[in-house]
Amino acid sequence: MTGEIIYGNELAANLREEMKQEVEQLKQKNITPSLTVILIGDDPASQSYVRGKQKASDKVGVDSELILLPESTTQQELVDRITKLNQDESVHGILVQLPLPNHIDEQVIIETIDPNKDVDGFHPVNIGRMMTGKDTFYPCTPYGIITMLKSKNIEIAGKHAVIVGRSNIVGKPVGQLLLNENATVTYCHSKTKDMKQYTRDADIVIVAVGKMHFITGDDIKDGAVVIDVGINRKEDGKLTGDVEFESAQQKASYITPVPKGVGPMTITMLLHNTIKSAKKYHDIL
Ligand code: GUN
Repeated sequence: MTGEIIYGNELAANLREEMKQEVEQLKQKNITPSLTVILIGDDPASQSYVRGKQKASDKVGVDSELILLPESTTQQELVDRITKLNQDESVHGILVQLPLPNHIDEQVIIETIDPNKDVDGFHPVNIGRMMTGKDTFYPCTPYGIITMLKSKNIEIAGKHAVIVGRSNIVGKPVGQLLLNENATVTYCHSKTKDMKQYTRDADIVIVAVGKMHFITGDDIKDGAVVIDVGINRKEDGKLTGDVEFESAQQKASYITPVPKGVGPMTITMLLHNTIKSAKKYHDIL
């Protein structure tokens, strides 16, 4: 079997085109969805992500403001900034780029953001709403993954989904969203014994560990759906995933590439959440 490639960049482009039209209609009602991104320090990877968010916002017509703060910013200064944005009626979405410098407590910052503006879906209120199967802002990468599966009409209900990696940003929430879709979910992580026994049983494998080629064709069963969330840089400078693509594609029914896979979907779902927040604020959802 040679797995069909799910191109996230193509799906993202289609969704962004639809969003662009929706934003045009909202603007006719004098509603312009707006996103404020806060970036602290000068980590090159974070700068590159934030630039991508700005560019995508511009294309779709979402207003985006970038607040760049120095590495020396104190936790209280950041809390004060967020409190002001919470009160600013023209701001629908607030995103603080993670990771934060060590002297700032990430959880304090996440909990400072108004849950109604938490377009990352990281606030405990939104996580709780997601866990109880309620409509809310879902974390962008997991939501993008579910959207990719649905775009190919891949059945989730009753399937065994195995998540490799248990981060708060990807692993944990994607398992929850798959459970909400009635999958049977197994989480594997660094303390899991004999991981292969789980991944080889999986109908859907989601790999989000940040280790180059951690999963190979040998680890999955014939016909599995393989979703690769990893972004690693090879020695030649090129990007590659947590899955060894060639061997895994030989067994998979569907597989996502890196790049052009999950990555472009994350920003797309962020824009989706920002538009949703604007609509909710203006009571048209
Ligand atoms: N850093 C890496 N991924 C993310 C994300 O989805 N949101 C935020 N705020 N920071 C990140």
